[in-house]
Amino acid sequence: MKTKAAVLHAKHEPWDVTELDLDRPGANEVLVRWVASGMCQSDEHMRHGDVRPRFPIIGGHEGAGIVEEIGHGVTRVKVGDQVISSFIPACGHCRWCATGHSNICDLGASVQTGSLPGGRFVFHKDGEDYGALGTVATFSQIATVSEYSLVPFTHQVPLEVAAIVACGVPTGWGSAVYAADTHPGDTIVVFGIGGIGINAVQGAAYAGAKNVIAVDPLENKREAARALGATHVASNSQEALELAMSLTRGVGADKSLITVDLIRGRLVNEALATVRKGGTLVITTWADHDKDTIQISSIELTGMERRIQGSLYGSGNPNYDILHMLDLYEAGALKLDELITAHYTLDQVEQGYQDLADGKNIRGVILHDT
Ligand SMILES: NC(=O)c1ccc[n+]([C@@H]2O[C@H](COP(=O)([O-])OP(=O)(O)OC[C@H]3O[C@@H](n4cnc5c(N)ncnc54)[C@H](O)[C@@H]3O)[C@@H](O)[C@H]2O)c1
Ligand SMILES: [Zn+2]
Ligand SMILES: [Zn+2]
Repeated sequence: MKTKAAVLHAKHEPWDVTELDLDRPGANEVLVRWVASGMCQSDEHMRHGDVRPRFPIIGGHEGAGIVEEIGHGVTRVKVGDQVISSFIPACGHCRWCATGHSNICDLGASVQTGSLPGGRFVFHKDGEDYGALGTVATFSQIATVSEYSLVPFTHQVPLEVAAIVACGVPTGWGSAVYAADTHPGDTIVVFGIGGIGINAVQGAAYAGAKNVIAVDPLENKREAARALGATHVASNSQEALELAMSLTRGVGADKSLITVDLIRGRLVNEALATVRKGGTLVITTWADHDKDTIQISSIELTGMERRIQGSLYGSGNPNYDILHMLDLYEAGALKLDELITAHYTLDQVEQGYQDLADGKNIRGVILHDT
């Protein structure tokens, strides 16, 4: 089969929209026609060299589509199902899945190479294997993926809206609700209001935080945060610190979260300074692989008994949390339509990421030709 996909051949090179050969689904594999794909910052990290995938790699890990064909032994989905991608597969029976931590399923190891779990590459061109980001390649019109990477749903939600529930929404929401463990009455600071941070704001507000301080240098992002649950906004770390202190009688925020695009300078130290004694700093941002991003005085950690908590995929379980997000959306408790700020065709992928870099988008969404 042939498909058209947006590919990175090497770091610092532009996205290349090209035709590829695609294998049909084998055992426990599924052919999906992706209808829509969100444009997360994580894809761009590969291009900027912040993370080091195996090249060439097809982008896109945040998609929704329709099952077109199933391979032998597939039980989780059937032809015609609407599905959302899970950028970490969830096998259901490894140690992590079995204990309620599917976000760190052992099959996630193949995310680094872009092969399907088991090691098979399904995209090819001129004798070369192409990997798939998150093993799902939602920047491809069609893809063969593991059934463990798909979450079927029946909610009444447009596929372009469902697409962003694949990564940005549960990652941000779960960073605040699970990783930060926001409690009613808490004061929460969110650094970086993009596709992830805006959902951390929504999650913190829904979990009952008294104060949600949204920090972003961009006015449009601060406005979006205010509209979706932030009680206060700040344009830099110093303002955020002053707000966190003044709102808590000098105690500090219960939890702060880092959801900026890339950790630069001393952001970790600045964010940690906003956290009270015994509080938690959650780091969701995907940082430069080659740098020791976190450099703190242990006094700042030990003397104040603070915690630093990494968070992958919102520290949740995609098979539950993705559907949970859709339930909340249907109930009117979670805003999704408001998060999509622009639409693009696959050929406009470069433009979409330029708009993100220019600060225009909360989330851009690619709509594939159907
Ligand atoms: N841990 C995970 O599972 C996971 C999943 C998806 C994405 N991510 C990562 O999360 C990060 C955010 O992704 P996104 O798609 O929301 O990015 P984005 O580019 O949409 O948003 C980043 C925002 O941070 C703001 N910002 C930059 N520097 C700042 C600073 N010093 N203080 C406050 N705000 C600042 C920018 O203005 C922008 O609005 C990326 O690193 C992405 O790779 C992690
Ligand atoms: Zn993402
Ligand atoms: Zn597993």
